[in-house]
Amino acid sequence: MNVLSIFGTRPEAIKMAPVIHALQRDKRFVSRVCVTGQHRQMLNDVMNVFSLTANYDLDLMKKDQTLANIVAGTISGLDPILVDFKPDIVLVQGDTASAMAASLAAFFRNVEVGHVEAGLRTGNLKSPWPEEANRRLTAVVASRHYAPTQRAVDALLAEKVPAKAIKLTGNTVIDALGYMVGRVAAPGPDRDALDAEFSWLKPDRRLILVTGHRRESFGEGFRNICLALKDIAARSDVEVVYPVHLNPNVQAPVREILSGVDNVHLIEPLDYRRFVYLMNRCHFALTDSGGIQEEAPAIRKPVLVMRDTSERMEAVDAGVARLVTTDRASIVSSVNELLDDSAVFATMSSGASPFGDGRAAERIIEDLAA
Ligand code: UD1
Ligand code: UDP
Repeated sequence: MNVLSIFGTRPEAIKMAPVIHALQRDKRFVSRVCVTGQHRQMLNDVMNVFSLTANYDLDLMKKDQTLANIVAGTISGLDPILVDFKPDIVLVQGDTASAMAASLAAFFRNVEVGHVEAGLRTGNLKSPWPEEANRRLTAVVASRHYAPTQRAVDALLAEKVPAKAIKLTGNTVIDALGYMVGRVAAPGPDRDALDAEFSWLKPDRRLILVTGHRRESFGEGFRNICLALKDIAARSDVEVVYPVHLNPNVQAPVREILSGVDNVHLIEPLDYRRFVYLMNRCHFALTDSGGIQEEAPAIRKPVLVMRDTSERMEAVDAGVARLVTTDRASIVSSVNELLDDSAVFATMSSGASPFGDGRAAERIIEDLAA
């Protein structure tokens, strides 16, 4: 079976790595990888850490690119590759412009589409924007839907996707995380090197790990997030580490408001190995990321989500994540509560991990082969 895995951004690469490794190990498949290059450095970091190589690279990224650029470039760039490789199935992951456009390109060539991480929904096309639409559009043309949770299965059934086309697999991010935690958390040379690299972290302060990049928060929302971080950093018992996403719409307000603020470390995006190391060391995560909402609970770290909505409400319902919006006062009061109320902290670090058991890739492969 010829399988073409297509992705373009950091989170897709992390979540597809376990699937691609499993495909490569299995003689039933001829596996090829196409990257759109929607991201460049941030994608390359993941490719290197997981030893992935691309058979095809559309190399699309432009500074401050438009969604139209990525979608048009992906569809036209993929078409000759589909003709050349003749995949039996194309695998896409999640909700990015690359994933949605790749699924359309495959559909236009009458190639079957498998959607990894299918069925996530907020029900609100404006949040997350444009991802909610990307997921729904992908679902329309996919014929195999790999749902991470029962809630995602139910969302697909509610949209009249046939039950036999849906498989409950868990999220492949838990597979990827398990592999990486094994490398960086246990004593050994990897861990020693990382301890030395991050020796500037102050052991007497609690580490808050921050990320943010959502398009719907650009402008006002991002300014509020940065002002909240400035308020939080005024505490003498915390240290904020913020690997800043390379999007210029993120870089500008973050650098303007937070450069030079004591206790705030603005650093480059980290490769997955380094990021998992810091997640494992942090007191909690403060983020708008989808993937981190899934990962943090799996390593018993509370996660405060700087969004109004989430398509990953399983963690909120389990009491290990909270939606704190992008309102400055709401972020600051939730952070203070988590720092000062040990009962709240204990509940939120209970270890409930609703997104998978680390065997999602295996289930996907078995379904493909069936
Ligand atoms: C994209 C996805 C989003 C996903 C996020 C993960 C869409 C619509 N958005 O958003 O769903 O959650 O990736 O991070 O698909 N840049 C670099 N180097 C990089 C990556 C980005 O310089 O390695 C800069 C470029 O100027 C680029 C800009 O960031 O134009 C925006 O990248 P883009 O992929 O369009 O949007 P993200 O906000 O990263
Ligand atoms: N991540 C990383 N380095 C960083 C920040 C995040 O490797 O500096 C990882 C994180 O562990 C998660 C993924 O990237 O697996 C999330 O990516 P992002 O937040 O960009 O996208 P989203 O998940 O929101 O689509």
